Amino acid sequence: TLDVVARPHELRERVSQWRRKGERIAFVPTMGNLHAGHGSLVSRASELAEHVIVSIFVNPLQFGPNEDFAAYPRTPEDDRQLLQSLNVEVLFAPEVDDIYPRGQEATARVHVPGLEDILCGAFRPGHFMGVATVVTKLLNLVQPDVALFGEKDFQQLMIIRRAAVDLCMPIDIVGVQTTREKDGLAMSSRNRYLLPEQRAVAPQIFAALESARVAIESGATDYPSLERAGAEALQKAGFRPDYFAIRDANTLQLPEAGSSDLVVLTAARIGRARLIDNVRAKKK
Ligand code: PAJ
Repeated sequence: TLDVVARPHELRERVSQWRRKGERIAFVPTMGNLHAGHGSLVSRASELAEHVIVSIFVNPLQFGPNEDFAAYPRTPEDDRQLLQSLNVEVLFAPEVDDIYPRGQEATARVHVPGLEDILCGAFRPGHFMGVATVVTKLLNLVQPDVALFGEKDFQQLMIIRRAAVDLCMPIDIVGVQTTREKDGLAMSSRNRYLLPEQRAVAPQIFAALESARVAIESGATDYPSLERAGAEALQKAGFRPDYFAIRDANTLQLPEAGSSDLVVLTAARIGRARLIDNVRAKKK
């Protein structure tokens, strides 16, 4: 049965017993309002370790002043039921004061130069500092052998990988492929902000990414014009795109002549929602 642990020292106790016995621990950090995408991370986690810990913490440090921290969906009862059904042993659900005992502003923080200010980082100043900082704190509290993150948040995954390597964290960072609705829309807690008519056009995001992928895989090399076409398609469908970008999947920088592993990424607003998605593209 699922144990809900709020205090960091209780979590440490639980984990140290397992570690003493030499058992492996996998960790899945989340902000709750769990859906099948989170579920797929948990399932993969249970294949990789004897024990799975999930955290739910809506991290104020990664939300901008005009973003949806207060409105972010919180569904603790449903979340507990889902985790119970997935045989998760421990849910770590700390309070803001447990994670930021001296306040958010005063906390030591983690920056990842070169990655934190591009793409989503250009539109959400401070966001990835908040993510890298909270993930570092959570990894230090849980001390897992492996931690799992979704490829849906491709830039986030890359930033966490970089922070883990650069800060010498002895933890495997594993990426898990994006779980989608039947019509292609990437699952996200923010999908519930969509009104019915917005939900109806939301699959256009994946469609636009896919048409760029198909063009790249068929030999197109004029990336700026593919980027413009993608942004225009989204605009026509009723979105306000922040960016539609084709990047090297290993660096997130502009593709060089020899780059063969590419990623097409977009962020687009519609109504109250800001949706992000990406697909990988292999150049022949
Ligand atoms: P959250 O949005 O709750 O996502 C938690 C994890 O689930 C992230 O690793 C995210 O990439 C993954 N995920 C979300 N939707 C997914 C989907 N459709 N398919 C596969 N994986 C999916 O991302 C965060 O929380 C936070 O920034 C966090 C890392 C917890 C730090 O606060």
